[in-house]
Amino acid sequence: MSIQTSTADGILTIEFDRIDKKNAITAAMYQSLADAFRAAETDPAVRVILLRGKPEIFTAGNDLEDFLQRPPTTAADGTPAPVFQFLEAISTAGKPIVAAVSGAAVGVGTTMLLHCDMVYASETAKLSLPFAQLGLCPEAASSLLLPRLIGYQRAAEKLMLGEAFNAQEALDMGLVNRVLPVAELHDFALAQARKLAALPASSLRETKRLMKGDDAAAVGKRMMEEGEVFRRMLSAPEAKEAFTAFFEKRKPDFSKFA
Ligand code: COA
Repeated sequence: MSIQTSTADGILTIEFDRIDKKNAITAAMYQSLADAFRAAETDPAVRVILLRGKPEIFTAGNDLEDFLQRPPTTAADGTPAPVFQFLEAISTAGKPIVAAVSGAAVGVGTTMLLHCDMVYASETAKLSLPFAQLGLCPEAASSLLLPRLIGYQRAAEKLMLGEAFNAQEALDMGLVNRVLPVAELHDFALAQARKLAALPASSLRETKRLMKGDDAAAVGKRMMEEGEVFRRMLSAPEAKEAFTAFFEKRKPDFSKFA
């Protein structure tokens, strides 16, 4: 499995573990993530969720080969594609989520952080939202949440140009809580999760629910809207050119598209 999960002392640790492919997330991995988040909701042994990658990399985002070969589709019985199940599960989780980010966090690797309660980053963290560079559009309600969090113009720069930004900039924008040396990151995030696990679960649940407030419905609605556009754009020639260029290790050429 490329997603490792373990539960100890009230903490469910979910770890990306596909280092040879830079922790790129396949449909099977999204399914594991969605299942783990959903199971955590009803598991009394889980009081906090800790999401982490490797010291070298958090995740390179969606597996582009998967996107090319098996674009996400809704099953005949109406079951959403695993990626959308995961986004729904993380965005509606009632239990606190702590994230530890080291190295690159590309695309969904960054947008998933908007649904975490506390985000800790190492000095090597590099976040990026290269949706336009890939001929795609934002997902995970980032088109709603990012402008709200960091202001419209800064969000436009991140979501349109897609250039990577470092942990300090993410800290200044309010996207991460603290920046730590790589060697300290995972222990620090675990210690924060332990503090949360020792608190009354009902207080944390209600605090989270109240803080999310009316946003919950708006987030769900925006995710659906983004999902429809995203699916359409995935099969468009711009995205095909971008994905093919990545695997051919060349720059994409969008000049032929209006
Ligand atoms: N999907 C599929 N495979 C990926 C991948 C992805 N998102 N990201 C990396 N890989 C694979 C590479 O194809 C390569 O495979 P290979 O060894 O079989 O050739 C391997 O992982 C190592 O990647 P490489 O690009 O050589 O590593 P790097 O350290 O030079 O760069 C990244 C790391 C994350 C900056 C770079 O891999 C990258 O930009 N990945 C694509 C990110 C992306 O666009 N994600 C989609 C967001 S929606």
